[in-house]
Amino acid sequence: ERFLEILKKIENGDELLREDIVYLLSTDKKREIDAIFSAADRIRKETVGDVVEIRGAIEFSNYCRKNCKYCGIRGQNSEIKRYRMTEEEIMEVVGYLHSLGLRTVILQSGEDPYWTMPKIINILRKVKETTGMRITLSIGERPYEEYAEFKKAGADNFLLKIETTNRELFKEIHPDDDFDTRLQCSKWLKELGYINGSGNIIGLPGQTVEDIASDIEFFRDMGINMIGIGPFIPAKGSPYEKLTPGDIAMTLRTVAVTRIVCKKVYIPSTTALATLSKDAQVWALNAGANTIMLINTPKKYRSSYNIYDNKNMVDLEAAVYAVRKAVNRKLPSYLKLPSYLENPDFDFAA
Ligand code: 5AD
Ligand code: SF4
Repeated sequence: ERFLEILKKIENGDELLREDIVYLLSTDKKREIDAIFSAADRIRKETVGDVVEIRGAIEFSNYCRKNCKYCGIRGQNSEIKRYRMTEEEIMEVVGYLHSLGLRTVILQSGEDPYWTMPKIINILRKVKETTGMRITLSIGERPYEEYAEFKKAGADNFLLKIETTNRELFKEIHPDDDFDTRLQCSKWLKELGYINGSGNIIGLPGQTVEDIASDIEFFRDMGINMIGIGPFIPAKGSPYEKLTPGDIAMTLRTVAVTRIVCKKVYIPSTTALATLSKDAQVWALNAGANTIMLINTPKKYRSSYNIYDNKNMVDLEAAVYAVRKAVNRKLPSYLKLPSYLENPDFDFAA
C-alpha cells in the first residue's frame, strides 16, 4: 500500500519524492496522520532533542515601505499607528530577555528605511557588548554589503521567509517584490555564514498542496536551518482582510513533513498558530516543532504590530504552558523562571 511504502522510506531515512510529500500533506486518514506526527516527533527527538529552545523577539519598528497583500503593517495601511522603538527602549527589553537567561534575541521590523545600516550596526554591537546574546535579524531584503556588515557586527542568524515558492503566487501577494531577488538574498545569507531562516504561509489564496510540497523541497535543497511555518491569518486594512484563515491541520502536517524531510533544523511553533488556537502551539511541538518565540515588544506598541488580526501574545507564561502540555518536552536549563512559574502545577487558567 502507498502509505506503508512511504513510511518505510521514512524509517530507512531515504529521500522522499515530490509525490510522497504531496501524499503525506494530503491524507485525511486519522491513522496515517498519527503515524506522520509520530515519525516527525521521533526525528525531532533524534536530531534536536527534547529541549524546546526559547527565543525572545522585539518588534522594534512597524514602519514598512512594502505592501505585501496579506500583511497588516503594509505601508499603505493608514489605519494603524506607526512606531519606532528608541535604542534605549530596545536595550531595556534586551536586558530583560538576558535576565531570563535567554541566549537568542530576535530583532524584527518592517522594511523600514529609517533603520539604516549604521543604526542597525550600532544596535548589534550594543547587544553583543552588553549581553553576548546570539542575534537573529528579521528586517527584510537588504543589499549584500549590508548583510555582510551586519554579520561582522555580530548578527548570527537571519530570517527572511520565501513565503511561497510558487512564482506566480509570490508575485500576486508581493506587489513590490521579485522572486529572484528574494532567492538571491537568501543565498547571500547562506554564503555569508548566517544560520539561515526561511518559511512559508499556509492557506494563501490559490495555494495548492503541490505548492506546499515545493516549499518543503526548497527548504531541503537550499539547506535552510530555521523554518517558520504559519497559517495565513486575515489582517485588517489589508486586501486579504476578508479571506478565510489557513487551516490548522494543514499547517501541522506541513510542520511534520518538513521535519521528516529536512531533519536537523529549527522549526518554531509559531505565533500565528497560537493566534488561531490556544493549544495549536502544543500540537506543533508534538508534530516536529522545537522552538518558541516570545514576543517582548513593550505593551504600548504591541497592538500596533498587528501583521494579522488578534495576534496572540506569546509571553513567558504561554511558552511555559505549551512546553509543559507537550509530550515529554523540557524547558531549557538556561531559562530563569520567576518563582511562581517554577511550580510545575502552576494553574495557567487562573
Ligand atoms: N498571516 C500569516 N502570516 C503573516 N505574516 C505576515 N502577515 C501575515 C498574515 N496575515 C508573516 C510572514 C512574515 C512574518 C514576519 O509574518 O510570513 O514573514
Ligand atoms: Fe512589510 Fe514584511 Fe509586512 Fe511585507 S510582510 S508588508 S515586508 S512587514
